[in-house]
Amino acid sequence: MSRVAYVNGVYVPHGEATVHIEDRGFQFADGVYEVWAIFGGRLADYDGHIERLGRSLDELRIDHPMSSGALTNVLREVVRRNRVREGLLYIQITRGTAPRDHPFPNPPVPPTLVVTCKSIDRKAAEAKARNGAAVITVPETRWARCDIKTVGLLPNALAKQAARERGAMEAWFVDELGFVTEGSSTNAWIVDADGTLRTRDTNANILRGVTRRALIDIARDAGMKVEERPFTMEEAKAAKEAFFTAASAFVMPAVSIDGAKIGNGKPGPVALKLRELYLAEARERAV
Ligand code: PDD
Repeated sequence: MSRVAYVNGVYVPHGEATVHIEDRGFQFADGVYEVWAIFGGRLADYDGHIERLGRSLDELRIDHPMSSGALTNVLREVVRRNRVREGLLYIQITRGTAPRDHPFPNPPVPPTLVVTCKSIDRKAAEAKARNGAAVITVPETRWARCDIKTVGLLPNALAKQAARERGAMEAWFVDELGFVTEGSSTNAWIVDADGTLRTRDTNANILRGVTRRALIDIARDAGMKVEERPFTMEEAKAAKEAFFTAASAFVMPAVSIDGAKIGNGKPGPVALKLRELYLAEARERAV
């Protein structure tokens, strides 16, 4: 079946969907995005992602292209027209199209709104999680506003490529003090020697992951201890388990960091349990 994209008010065949060459997303990475997991044709962690999208827009002073009710209808319609049951939904909003000039367009122009979705082979994703992921580390080189989910992802793309070239699934950024910030497209976690879950606090320069937030609650409800505080690379390598979270990965066990095995080099029981709990809850709560 052919894919359909939404571009500025129109549903178009994916292969014919275009934006202008002077779109500020293309010229300046002047735009934001969100990614939702789709379960059974419904959107997971809906409110968390929609709230963060609104915050990203507000932080950059980009106009909201439509009311949140209207936007919800567009998102649902894209999923429906593509007949995606299990997959990912992507939305991108830029400051719009204007002759290239650094300051915001004056008078303002309407934002550009693009929505796409695609199917994901969940069986293959589950098989990957059973194998676990190799992680590499790279120096933190990003700007100081990683809390905003902008499309300016060049350091992230370079980090992910470095991971691929070293046979790894993810790259973790490490700051000047030796603390892990987050992954190139995921939040980083460990299970320390005491069995406490640790993930970086959101006062740090990281994205406030929606999956991360949901998992903190799920883990606490399951009686696990969670601390939002930094961990070093040495602590990660000595951890019982490590894993990373995102709408595109859920809870993915990490089995090595820079070639050093984590635990026995196999996905750990805590990460696998959390994956199961997250998937069950996210699927049930999807709207
Ligand atoms: N990435 N950190 C970064 C840098 C990310 O890009 C992402 C998400 C996350 C996890 O956030 P969430 O749990 O809300 O998905 C953390 C998306 C999936 C992407 O860029 O494709």
